[in-house]
Amino acid sequence: MKALIVYGGKYGSTKVISEWIAERLSFDTVIRDAKDAPSPGDFDLVLLGSAIYEGKFMPEVNTYIDKHINTLEEKKKVIFGVCLDTKGVFVKGKIHGGWEYIMPIIKKFKNPPLHAGLLHGEINPSKLSSEDYKRLMHFYNKILGKNYSAVPYRTKMNKEEVWEFAEKIINKLKGKVY
Ligand SMILES: Cc1cc2nc3c(=O)[nH]c(=O)nc-3n(C[C@H](O)[C@H](O)[C@H](O)COP(=O)(O)O)c2cc1C
Repeated sequence: MKALIVYGGKYGSTKVISEWIAERLSFDTVIRDAKDAPSPGDFDLVLLGSAIYEGKFMPEVNTYIDKHINTLEEKKKVIFGVCLDTKGVFVKGKIHGGWEYIMPIIKKFKNPPLHAGLLHGEINPSKLSSEDYKRLMHFYNKILGKNYSAVPYRTKMNKEEVWEFAEKIINKLKGKVY
């Protein structure tokens, strides 16, 4: 089986997670940044993954999907988002985060993906651009009401979680429901 993982991210965690997925799938897998990924035409399975920034997929992953939508419709495909809030919260009658992040991507397709889900990423303040650092400080202190003087290092990256996700893909390829 030939697989292609197209990912988008800024600071490397989505790339590492893509590598962990490929390791567990044990297919002949090509991993590429969405900015220079090949057409999905030659692959049996295509995984489309993105880091979540301010609730959204990276623009280059959206662009890749839109460009190849007709080919992707006919492919076995998997969607994954990498973020901190994989579960989501219910506030003032609305869901924020979790599946809400990837539903707009899933809804792009008439033929639904074989599998989809959210995987935990990380925030490493020493890697952040000054703009992203400021955005996070605003989010923590103004929106969440914390009193942080610095962005804390938080990693929730979990290889076991990622391998379980890959195992679900393997099961579904074999025709299992879950
Ligand atoms: C500016 C900024 C905005 C973010 N927005 C969200 C968000 O809306 N929801 C979430 O769960 N995580 C959010 N994150 C966390 C990222 O999704 C997480 O750091 C991810 O692992 C980044 O992947 P990357 O290293 O591949 O860029 C944000 C991080 C930054 C720096």
